Amino acid sequence: MKKTILCIGAGYVGGPTMAVIADQCPDYKVIVVDMNAERIAAWNSDELPIYEPGLDEVVRRARGRNLFFSTDVSSGIKEAGIIFVSVNTPTKTFGDGAGKAANLQYWEKTARDIVEHSGHDKIVVEKSTLPVRTAEAMHRILMANTKGLNFEVISNPEFMAEGTAISDLQNPDRVLIGAMETPTGQKALQEIIDIYSNWVPRERIKTTNVWSSELSKLVSNAMLAQRISSVNSISALCEQTDANIVDVSAAMGADSRIGSKFLRASVGFGGSCFKKDILNLVYLCEFYGLPEVAEYWEQVVKINDYQAKRFVKNIAARMFNTVADKRIAVFGFAFKADTGDTRESPAIAVSHLLLEEHAELAIYDPKALDEAKKDMKDAQGKIEYIDDPYEAVKGAHAIALLTEWKEFTEYDYVKIFELMEKPAFIFDGRNILDHKKLFEIGFNVYPIGQAAMSHLN
Ligand code: UDX
Ligand code: ADP
Repeated sequence: MKKTILCIGAGYVGGPTMAVIADQCPDYKVIVVDMNAERIAAWNSDELPIYEPGLDEVVRRARGRNLFFSTDVSSGIKEAGIIFVSVNTPTKTFGDGAGKAANLQYWEKTARDIVEHSGHDKIVVEKSTLPVRTAEAMHRILMANTKGLNFEVISNPEFMAEGTAISDLQNPDRVLIGAMETPTGQKALQEIIDIYSNWVPRERIKTTNVWSSELSKLVSNAMLAQRISSVNSISALCEQTDANIVDVSAAMGADSRIGSKFLRASVGFGGSCFKKDILNLVYLCEFYGLPEVAEYWEQVVKINDYQAKRFVKNIAARMFNTVADKRIAVFGFAFKADTGDTRESPAIAVSHLLLEEHAELAIYDPKALDEAKKDMKDAQGKIEYIDDPYEAVKGAHAIALLTEWKEFTEYDYVKIFELMEKPAFIFDGRNILDHKKLFEIGFNVYPIGQAAMSHLN
């Protein structure tokens, strides 16, 4: 084989990315390592540790051929010439920058592991989202080695979204590669371009300096999240007027300068990236003495929190000002459809707020029930986790739909209506149901940013 690529961190980013690289580049040996032995065992089994449409197929094609999963981090480092790092970079929970800055302890430990086990020069590629100028710090740690080794640090942020990771990786809008502007940096850059050129058209491979690449990732996520918060803020105004957010979004998005994507009003955005990356950006701006800029971006997160609170307030207000002891069926816990991931899911905040109001929850999700149990394990109150939606709605006063799973649009709502307490309420936090039809069945229907359809007044 031409070269050996190592990836440290076999999570949502590292696993699918390396599976696609191995699939597309049969002459590269790709090793993915993780210190979590259970995760690696799952990657080597028929039951992969993450659910992602199309992933099984890609892994099955490449695994054992040129794709290997292992816990042996040190051997991987020794063997590989190119090391992608996709370890977790959670928000700091302690000390300076707590709640905003990225916790770089895993990244730094990885850099030290690389130094310890390297016997020849390497290219180290940042795949995790990191604050701007991390590459510089990493370069310093790596170059502090006493073995006379050279390390080139490259920034190559991942733009795939969960649920569509495989098609995003196979057919990306762009691949961004940031390198140092030195001769060795540019040589390293070419090696990374060579990998992606196996399947990505050259004009979609964008190259910049390292800092622009790092910042582009944070800003791309901040801009996407900002669109959702902008639309969600207007959804509150629509609910007070006769305007309909779906129509407003469509009218606005038809302007080609605005574009139609990421304008769906919802109970709020979730996922491991948006909030974390915006808070990172906020921290950076504060650090560089730009409080007005920091405040501007922080508002995107504040509106997101407000939207979840507003959703629960509306539930309580509509249900005669109390949900105490009422069973509420929660449809969907994943942060979006087609994933089992619940990180930062609005369902977590909504569930906690409903429990504070003493509601009883019956949570159903087609893929994320195990994660939901973990997320809610310390919550006070009555929660059932049910793997059948028709069971979840039995005796429920309301359904709170929180994830845009397609199957929710395909249920027999006549049957569901019969199983529920009356009056029966549906709060569609994703605007995916046929509201008129539900109203005709007998439900009181409350979408986001659209007129309520109620039999009660
Ligand atoms: C995001 C970015 O899209 C991706 O480029 C980056 O690499 C990682 O972060 P991801 O978090 O996986 O991807 O999912 P995404 O599709 O962006 O959805 C994020 C959240 O926004 C979800 O909770 C989704 O339901 C919500 N959303 C999305 C809306 O509420 N309205 C929309 O119009 C679009
Ligand atoms: P992401 O969504 O960014 O991929 P995950 O949390 O899903 O984040 O994955 C990160 C992975 O990195 C985890 O499986 C974790 O065990 C692994 N990891 C973190 N630090 C190290 C390290 N020093 N060596 C090996 N693996 C690591």
